[in-house]
Amino acid sequence: FPIYYHLQAAVTEIVFVFSLPADIISTVEFNHTGELLATGDKGGRVVIFQREQESKNQPHRRGEYNVYSTFQSHEPEFDYLKSLEIEEKINKIRWLPQQNAAYFLLSTNDKTVKLWKVSERDKRPEGYNLKDEDGRLRDPSMITVLRVPVLRPMDLMVEATPRRVFANAHTYHINSISVNSDYETYMSADDLRINLWNFEITNQSFSILWRVWLWRRPWGPVRSSPRGSSRLMLGVVLSSCTVFEEPEDPSNRSFFSEIISSISDVKFSHSGRYIMTRDYLTVKVWDLNMENRPIETYQVHDYLRSKLCSLYENDCIFDKFECVWNGSDSVIMTGSYNNFFRMFDRNTKRDVTLEASRENSKPRAILKPRKVCVGGKRRKDEISVDSLDFSKKILHTAWHPSENIIAVAATNNLYIFQDKVN
Ligand SMILES: *[C@@H]1O[C@H](CO)[C@@H](O)[C@H](O)[C@H]1NC(C)=O
Ligand SMILES: *[C@@H]1O[C@H](CO)[C@@H](O)[C@H](O)[C@H]1NC(C)=O
Ligand SMILES: *[C@@H]1O[C@H](CO)[C@@H](O)[C@H](O)[C@H]1NC(C)=O
Ligand SMILES: *[C@@H]1O[C@H](CO)[C@@H](O)[C@H](O)[C@H]1NC(C)=O
Repeated sequence: FPIYYHLQAAVTEIVFVFSLPADIISTVEFNHTGELLATGDKGGRVVIFQREQESKNQPHRRGEYNVYSTFQSHEPEFDYLKSLEIEEKINKIRWLPQQNAAYFLLSTNDKTVKLWKVSERDKRPEGYNLKDEDGRLRDPSMITVLRVPVLRPMDLMVEATPRRVFANAHTYHINSISVNSDYETYMSADDLRINLWNFEITNQSFSILWRVWLWRRPWGPVRSSPRGSSRLMLGVVLSSCTVFEEPEDPSNRSFFSEIISSISDVKFSHSGRYIMTRDYLTVKVWDLNMENRPIETYQVHDYLRSKLCSLYENDCIFDKFECVWNGSDSVIMTGSYNNFFRMFDRNTKRDVTLEASRENSKPRAILKPRKVCVGGKRRKDEISVDSLDFSKKILHTAWHPSENIIAVAATNNLYIFQDKVN
């Protein structure tokens, strides 16, 4: 593994020791070249980080990420028809490839997708004929000479402007958005439906799939919100679809089987040959040509198997962990509890547990692998299963598309790590 060390711990603007729920980071996304990193949070804000240019006289210092722009993307709303509050929390952000000087991104909460334009301004026009510098109209009788307006330099300003709002097309919560390769359309999905949108048309979308899931529920108290399905549906091309499903080992069946096999994230590999799925305890890699079983299965935190009862009691069992590939598809990263995150090397089959914490990782300190002990004897440096903090969870991570730089969201902190440059 590359040796990760702290590049910088960027924290969303408001830092409280007891942070407000509004600060919890809910999504992290690099742009296609990795120079920009966007986060969305529970308070509906988007914070964009930009990587500094490398400086020639400090070659060992690779560019750090600094805040580039912060804006309020979504506000809380109320659906009076259904008497339902609509949270402002950002569920997903997707960058569009850059086509001109401005950047475009899509952000979504449960119901509404917005297209944002983020652009820089370092000049402003001055010398209008009909209005003064403050924008007030001038008395026409006072205008005696014709002026040519000029652009004057000013401090760099980054502006975010909403360009399109795509609303009222989802009954359930939007859980993902994906920009299509034609860059003219994108898809938004909830638990039952996938909508196809044209960027230019906001009042109309095309529902590709509308399917009623039959929930095979375990017995026990009925939970109200839909939690994803243990089946993975892929390749939705109108009527054709493939179901990837591994037959369950009957000896392992339990009250929790259904819940822990629910898929919380799916990612295509960069090569397009594999897909990776994350369920509660494992990450699986599937070959697109083989539906009946995954080609690789990685245990993320198998020591929790004996703790499922309490994880059900405190609702943690419904946490939706995401997973990511590194740029060459050879390493997989996903999160766990206690601010731990895991990496699996697909070639060497080695794995490592790392921790995102302020106490243990000073800037430029090298991350020490962590170990959780299961049995009675605990060695120095090990942490026992019973002392894991289940309120500290790493659900969202991102991997730079071409370098070993990772972004890890731990509640209201965003940690950026990179591998050590000699
Ligand atoms: C990603 O962001 C950087 C800005 O720092 C930009 O130069 C680059 O073109 C962007 N990449 C894509 C593919 O949009
Ligand atoms: C969408 O808006 C356009 C322009 O306002 C209008 O021509 C079109 O009929 C509308 N479509 C629907 C389905 O409402
Ligand atoms: C069954 O449970 C054991 C541990 O109790 C685990 O190692 C194994 O991977 C499980 N099998 C499946 C198919 O999940
Ligand atoms: C992916 O991980 C491998 C193994 O650590 C590393 O050699 C490679 O550079 C990584 N690729 C990218 C693009 O990050």
